Amino acid sequence: MRQAKQIILKKKASGVAFLMIDCPGRVNLLTASVMSEMEDALEQVAGDPDVKAVCLVSGKSDTFISGADLHEIVNMRAQSEAYEMSRRGQAVLARLRRLRRPAVVGIHGSCLGGGLELALWCHRRIATDHPETVLGLPEVKLGLIPGLGGTQLLPRLVGLRTALELILSSEPVSARRAVEIGLVDDLVAPDHFMARLEKEALSLVAGGYDERAAADDLGPEKQKSLFAMMERSVRIKTKGQYPAPSRVLKVIRDGLSMPLEQALELEAAAFGELAAGEVSRNLIHLFFSSEFARQSAVSLARDDRYGRVGTVAIVGGGTMGAGIAHIAAEAGLNVVVKEADAERLAASIKSISALFQRASQRLKLGAEEIACRLGRVRPAGSCQELAGADLVIEAVFEDTDTKVAVLNEVAAAVGPDCVLATNTSSLSIARMASRLSQPERFLGIHFFHPVDKMPLVEVVTHPGTSLQTVATATALVARLGKTPVAVADGPGFLVNRLLCCYILEAGRLAEQGVPLNWIDEAAVDFGMPMGPLALLDEVGLNVAFKVAAVLHEGFGARYAPPAVLARVEALGLGGKRTGVGIYLWDDSGKRLAVNPSLIQDIGLSTSDDRPPPEISSELTERLILPMVDEAARCLEEKIVRKAREIDLAMVMGIGFPAFRGGLLRYADSLGIGRVRRRLEKVYEQAGGGRSVCDLIVRMEADGRRFYAGADRASSAPQGAGGKAHSSGLAAAEG
Ligand code: NAI
Repeated sequence: MRQAKQIILKKKASGVAFLMIDCPGRVNLLTASVMSEMEDALEQVAGDPDVKAVCLVSGKSDTFISGADLHEIVNMRAQSEAYEMSRRGQAVLARLRRLRRPAVVGIHGSCLGGGLELALWCHRRIATDHPETVLGLPEVKLGLIPGLGGTQLLPRLVGLRTALELILSSEPVSARRAVEIGLVDDLVAPDHFMARLEKEALSLVAGGYDERAAADDLGPEKQKSLFAMMERSVRIKTKGQYPAPSRVLKVIRDGLSMPLEQALELEAAAFGELAAGEVSRNLIHLFFSSEFARQSAVSLARDDRYGRVGTVAIVGGGTMGAGIAHIAAEAGLNVVVKEADAERLAASIKSISALFQRASQRLKLGAEEIACRLGRVRPAGSCQELAGADLVIEAVFEDTDTKVAVLNEVAAAVGPDCVLATNTSSLSIARMASRLSQPERFLGIHFFHPVDKMPLVEVVTHPGTSLQTVATATALVARLGKTPVAVADGPGFLVNRLLCCYILEAGRLAEQGVPLNWIDEAAVDFGMPMGPLALLDEVGLNVAFKVAAVLHEGFGARYAPPAVLARVEALGLGGKRTGVGIYLWDDSGKRLAVNPSLIQDIGLSTSDDRPPPEISSELTERLILPMVDEAARCLEEKIVRKAREIDLAMVMGIGFPAFRGGLLRYADSLGIGRVRRRLEKVYEQAGGGRSVCDLIVRMEADGRRFYAGADRASSAPQGAGGKAHSSGLAAAEG
């Protein structure tokens, strides 16, 4: 079948030719076929003496171009292929500067990655003054670097400091900010867009259109110290585990002292190397997984068959309730908060207000905007005042009887279609459901602490939860800007079950005399944001022991805490919050030494040295592989359906190192046979009594992996801009 045209060339009577990019049925991406059409269109323009100027625009109402097609990138096997892709793309876009006519780009909607690089090759950039118009280079976040000239053209346009900030942060900027930094020449209202572009193009024809001079005001000495500072900061942040940031710094630094053509060669070589490397593949894999989860939820939110949430009620406005109320009001929802009494209600509203104040510094909001957002939060003196809610989230104390009493009281006050949710972190959803009159409208929506920072939410169903309820809750989670993962009810759900496994393993190591700091250092060297013992302090020891008890009750010996943890529990340590836990912490939350009482009273050990490398890798296996086994059990028990859901939850919920692509992708990289053999050794070293789960044994026998086909989260073309093609939502990896 002949493919529909993706670039339409229209010549106006004025002599201005419009190149409209419009990929049928999906977002605009610079795929190989789009680049080919672009080359043809530019050739046509170059050969037409009637064309005086060119304007490039998008035919989409909400995006300009979302970047390169990441599927094309991950499907490349050889470094040379990626290098060629970059060189060819640079050559096509460089034609924009050799047309001997001005090229003006009109940007409306998101302009990301290759989209922005295309704009950089044009002589003028005009953007719409619209909230959807954002510009950025997200490649570094995906383990890549801009490969269509961006590393060289951006510093030459906006100056070195600004370019480094944009490229290293991977964060897009608004159109308004883009004008301030010199990335965009002018802003226009969306409704006069085409006419304004045509006028601009003609004025360039009349008045000349030299390249804008480089905005860089830094001399060689300042440049040198800026690079040194950036390199140091990148080394500290990435610990050498993410190669793209330091590579892009080198490409920019070396490229700036070369002629552009030579610098582009350098860029393409680095792009090829990174695109063929494992880290970019892992990061892109996670990106696909998170887009899949988010987009599926967004499409539920748009589906008329499911309820829409306009008002959300929170019962229990403590740490979690206040956090949820804050993000819900931030997302534009009406929020009603109910507490145990008037005093606690006032305290809750005060903490919500404090959350807004804190966020306002980040979002640069004025007092009026804060007041407007806070105005969406209404305190409720009684349950009757929750009557208009579409969804209620219960976040009272972690006790089944208290929660059931609250939920029944709420159920009597709200309408029959209102969804009822609990934010419990460990209690059985099914057990609570069995004590409610309409269990089909009940489920768990498990947010993590701190709510505004943690991107993951577990949507936990019991066997009787209706599809309607799940859809409404999932859509709400997406609307709150979070990534939902669908989880079936079971002790600890998914994240806490795996987290607990990690912490218990650390307890077993401590009991066997491994210095406490070695356990944490091994985990951090592997890439975890913190070791399991520091994490225990972070979560709070009493909370963690409560969750551990639920898992022990649910799964028996596998989750039996080692005797030493029971002795630690008996010390009644609070953890980071109180300044005393496994470690001592100062008032600013900085970790000090290992708590000496654990050494003196319990006989645990610590060391002045770091663990030797061979010990560190053995400790890593002891900490990580049991989680692989437990994750496989979660798949076996259908707690989650897909390996990629586990990987996403591990990265977003626990901070499993993204450069490894997630827990199960890491297991695949080791090989299932090796995982099984090492696990057997780990269990033996830990004292025996555990065996590897059936799924892993069967997978080894059948030669299967957790991921049936590499990188197949969705088969539709996808760019870093984050808008998946809708048909891609139906495709899932094995
Ligand atoms: P919290 O103790 O800070 O807040 C609980 C609030 O519920 C208190 O303000 C209390 O006054 C209120 N409350 C108690 N009974 C009530 C009633 N009958 N009606 C209205 N309000 C009532 O507790 P937190 O930490 O916010 O936890 C709440 C829930 O969230 C628990 O189920 C917990 O397991 C879960 N959770 C906690 C996380 C955390 O890190 N703190 C993380 C994820 C879930």
